[in-house]
Amino acid sequence: KVIVLDFGGQYNQLITRRIRDLGVFSELVSHKITAAEVKEMNPKGIIFSGGPGSVYADGAPRCDEEIFDLGIPVLGICYGMQLMTHHFEGSVEAANHREYGKAMITIEHDSKLFGDLPKQQSVWMSHGDLVKAPPAGFTVDATNVSCPVASMSDESRGLYGVQFHPEVRNSEYGNEMLKNFIYDVCHCDGKWSMENFIDIEVEKIRESVGERKVLCALSGGVDSSVVAALIHKAIGDQLICMFIDHGLLRKDEAESVMETFGDRFDMNLVKIDAQDRFLSKLTGVKDPEQKRKIIGNEFIYVFEEEAGKLTEVDFLAQGTLYTDIIESGTDTAQTIKSHHNVGGLPENMKLDLIEPLNTLFKDEVREVGAELGLPDEIVWRQPFPGPGLGIRVLGEITDDKLEIVRESDAILREEIKKAGLDREIWQYFTALPDMRSVGVMGDERTYDYTVGIRAVTSIDGMTSDWARIPYDVLEVISTRIVNEVKDVNRVVYDITSKPPSTIEWE
Ligand code: XMP
Repeated sequence: KVIVLDFGGQYNQLITRRIRDLGVFSELVSHKITAAEVKEMNPKGIIFSGGPGSVYADGAPRCDEEIFDLGIPVLGICYGMQLMTHHFEGSVEAANHREYGKAMITIEHDSKLFGDLPKQQSVWMSHGDLVKAPPAGFTVDATNVSCPVASMSDESRGLYGVQFHPEVRNSEYGNEMLKNFIYDVCHCDGKWSMENFIDIEVEKIRESVGERKVLCALSGGVDSSVVAALIHKAIGDQLICMFIDHGLLRKDEAESVMETFGDRFDMNLVKIDAQDRFLSKLTGVKDPEQKRKIIGNEFIYVFEEEAGKLTEVDFLAQGTLYTDIIESGTDTAQTIKSHHNVGGLPENMKLDLIEPLNTLFKDEVREVGAELGLPDEIVWRQPFPGPGLGIRVLGEITDDKLEIVRESDAILREEIKKAGLDREIWQYFTALPDMRSVGVMGDERTYDYTVGIRAVTSIDGMTSDWARIPYDVLEVISTRIVNEVKDVNRVVYDITSKPPSTIEWE
């Protein structure tokens, strides 16, 4: 593997991503990692990322200097190259003006990093400081008008530095340079793939779990489904999956989860029918925040109660992803860490946590899911909130209203899929505002519910835009909903982005 030391640059995750795509496992680690810890990880190469500051700034991030003595090749990118220069006593200075954007470099000296790439090429620059003179023992490999040392190396020690960002697509041959570094300099073997990942994780899980038992809360979402399938592959019936039906699921969802995991995968799957419990707690409650709180708390109570009945469980499996970990800081990710109170679990359960997906990006998780044989409906499932339809029936929740949302949502999903838009639109669903309006059907006046369609494009749900569903598709959806769903006489389409709106209506 190749590790990337995080000095705070905006493209850092992209570096690990590019290297994985080139067939070598890569992960981002804190710049505070010690040389001993690096040695333990035994990477074939190290990349120092970019970073926002100057190496001379107060509190500028540094690394353990002994990392340079490990004999592992290092590629410094931007700030990483400046740090390397600073360490080996070359000269780093503030540039006359910040350079940002496309630039042409000229390769002046052959190195393994450039291989036989064209002598003139465009790269992506984004920096304030620059290297004025390389340290002793380094050659200047490439230059550019505003940057005397665009690239440098000391090949005898396996040290390379580039001022530009090879990980950004705007660097014409950036990907080739990363490839040259990991293969020609670091001699990686390029076997990283999702198939390989599954084999390695299965072994790790078997080793740490032994004869003991693992509990997994299965929601039917992508992450928990893939975790369950992966652990099941490793330890079969030692995995107990718990699926809580809170009565706020979409049409046929519970059946589909039971069919996929219970029947097809033959998992040890316990279904908890808690519909009545949730619905009675929600009776008469109108406030969205209160509804969310009730559903969230009830979920924990039910889980706690049911998990408490399983006396022989030692581990809890969770579908934590790499992005969840990176967001909370880049302390080195571990497959298993001790955790004693997950989401309100009783203290005395002392479950250890297994998070086998915590090195993966979302699309890699989907790939693993497909590789494990999970159906497309699960692998490509759109996000679905924990409180479920409870926050899509606006105001008080009743069985009748849930039914309207379920049926209209099923029609919407069917038509979106038929139109081939299901992978393009990030999330799509119907919501039921707490309102009625007048209509006319078969010469008669009606006074019925309005159904709202919400469909958005997004990357991560933090911001979104409304999806431009073609009019003829909307027409079919609207006609079908009014004709097929009881007590509905009007369909509206939500055309607000987030912000200022949110994706869900409550
Ligand atoms: P909003 O409505 O905040 O939603 O724009 C952003 C994304 O998060 C989902 N969402 C939730 N997911 N528990 C979840 O697991 C929740 O309580 C919750 N609320 C919103 C929402 O569906 C959208 O994808």
